[in-house]
Parts: sequence; C-alpha cells; structure tokens
Amino acid sequence: MDKFSRREFIYLSASSFLLFPHRAYAIDAEQNQPKIDYPNTILVLKKAFKSEMTAHKHYLGYVEKALTEKFPNIAYMFHAFSISEKVHADNYKRIINKLGSKTDSIMQLIDVRDTKSNLITSTKNELKKIKTIYPNFLHKLEIEECEEAIINCMYSWKSHRQHEEKVKEMGSSPESVGEYD
Ligand SMILES: [Fe+2]
Ligand SMILES: [Fe+2]
Repeated sequence: MDKFSRREFIYLSASSFLLFPHRAYAIDAEQNQPKIDYPNTILVLKKAFKSEMTAHKHYLGYVEKALTEKFPNIAYMFHAFSISEKVHADNYKRIINKLGSKTDSIMQLIDVRDTKSNLITSTKNELKKIKTIYPNFLHKLEIEECEEAIINCMYSWKSHRQHEEKVKEMGSSPESVGEYD
C-alpha cells in the first residue's frame, strides 16, 4: 500500500477524530446487543459497500468479455480490479457488522459491452468515485468521527486513483493489447 500524500496526511490530521478519545460501543443491557452509535456512518458504509460490489461484478463481466474478444492483458487488469473491489466491499462489510448492522444483498444489473466501451466506462466510473463519490463519503463520515470507517474509506479512495490511472494507460496504449495465438 502506498503512503498517503502530504495533502491526505493533512486531511487525516485535521480530522477531529484524532483529537478526541474513541467512542465506546454502548451495550444495550436488555438486548445484550451493541447499540448502534454511528447511524450515519453505517448508511455511508452501506452505500460504499453497494458501490464496491457493483464495481466488482462489472469487472468480472468485463473479464469474460475481454477474453472472448482476445484481449488477455485487459482481461488480466480487469480481473485484478475485480479482486480489489471485492476487498474494498469486504472491508466495508466487516466494519458495518462491527458497528452492529448488516449488509443487504446486492441485486444489480450488470451492463457489459465490448471491451473498448468497457474501458471507457470503467475510466468514467473510477473518475466519478475519485472526484465525487468518495469525497462525498468522507465528508459525511467526518461528522461521526468513526476512525476505522474514515481510514478504510481513504484507502479505498486511493486505490481507485490507481485503477483510473491504469485503465487510462491501457486504453491509450493499443500496443499493450495482446492476442491469444
Ligand atoms: Fe473499490
Ligand atoms: Fe476501482
């Protein structure tokens, strides 16, 4: 995992959760269940989980298409991304469970086109996550100061920046597109 940039470090340092002790999970004596102390954080994490699972499933579809169209290098890249998106989703799920909630099953239609279109779509979607979706998640997460959720979201955000760079590089370098014999 790469180190955070100076800008990200300032962002993290400025977040007030570092200035205050962590919130403890209160136990509901009657139910003997962890009391949900981070309702808005959980909502954000659930959206992030859905977004990551959707990306994971799309990339799996793109892998199959790229193999059919004989673009093994692109299939390999999409496969690596599908794993990465699943790791992000699993991390969100773990924190959601830890905070006393559960994830919903994801019923999402997958739109798979030809590989060139899939490259364009994935660049757009990665860019949207980098520029809009993740800054929005982080802004909302700051309110309840759940440190684990914020740090996890920062790492996923950074990972999407790597995806976007890689997919752009692949799309702009047709010579890197190999074929099966
Ligand atoms: Fe992701
Ligand atoms: Fe991504």
